[in-house]
Amino acid sequence: MCRISKDKIIKELSSFYKIRDMLEWDNVQADLIITDPPFGIQFSGKNGNYNRKKENVVDGYVEWDVREYPEKIRQLLMVIDKNLNSQGQALIFSGWNNSNIIHNEILKYKKLYLEGKMYWIYNFAPACKKRPAHNVYEIFWVTKSDKWKYNNRCSTEHCSTGEPNLTTFIVKRDYKMNMPKYPTRLPFKLLQSLIEHFSNENDLIFDPLAGSGMLGIVSYFLKRNFILGDLNENGKVVFESLLTFYMDKPLVGFFQERGFI
Ligand SMILES: C[S@@+](CC[C@H](N)C(=O)[O-])C[C@H]1O[C@@H](n2cnc3c(N)ncnc32)[C@H](O)[C@@H]1O
Repeated sequence: MCRISKDKIIKELSSFYKIRDMLEWDNVQADLIITDPPFGIQFSGKNGNYNRKKENVVDGYVEWDVREYPEKIRQLLMVIDKNLNSQGQALIFSGWNNSNIIHNEILKYKKLYLEGKMYWIYNFAPACKKRPAHNVYEIFWVTKSDKWKYNNRCSTEHCSTGEPNLTTFIVKRDYKMNMPKYPTRLPFKLLQSLIEHFSNENDLIFDPLAGSGMLGIVSYFLKRNFILGDLNENGKVVFESLLTFYMDKPLVGFFQERGFI
């Protein structure tokens, strides 16, 4: 890809990442929201128990205090409700610590329906210096109505062998060396699999808590539209550096072959 067109694409894609409080979004009309709220565990991404170079981790991550967690989750559900279209659906990630709060708040929120729960499994223990770490994320699937969409198979390893599987996603974290790091970036393949299962080409995908903006990058390569927001300006810095990385990668050839870009 030539430099000028690449810079132009990055600039254009970057304009879909807004530095904004989640409460400021209104009527986005998204088909799908995939979002990963702060964990409520005094997380900064620079905590000493993680085996990573602290200096590469960007500042500015906004954590939620556990005492305000139920209220913040209520607000997030309101944001989801306001910004999905009438047939839209959302996938809400949760670590194990406060997933009970997320589950209870979803059940109490009468305008969104809990359709199910999935699990993302990855091996985190070797990356933790001080103690074995739990390695299951829960993904709550909520919908606005009973007109949700779901494609039975995705094109990643998740579905390339065996039965279609709406229970577990076993995907490693794809750490990047010597680049600015966002502490909680979700892996490409996990997002690819979820996007392919829960949306179609040209759909609008939204994340009001976007961090690294990885969701936007995968959406772009899969020919979906996207819109992202975060309070942390450094999220957008990481987003731009990841875009540069992925556009230089052989992956581009993979997607070009399939007519995606
Ligand atoms: C777990 S991280 C999301 C990581 C993201 N999924 C990724 O792949 O990089 C949660 C994000 O929520 C952001 N955040 C917290 N409160 C916010 C608010 N009120 N409005 C917008 N962003 C907020 C944090 O700065 C953080 O980047």
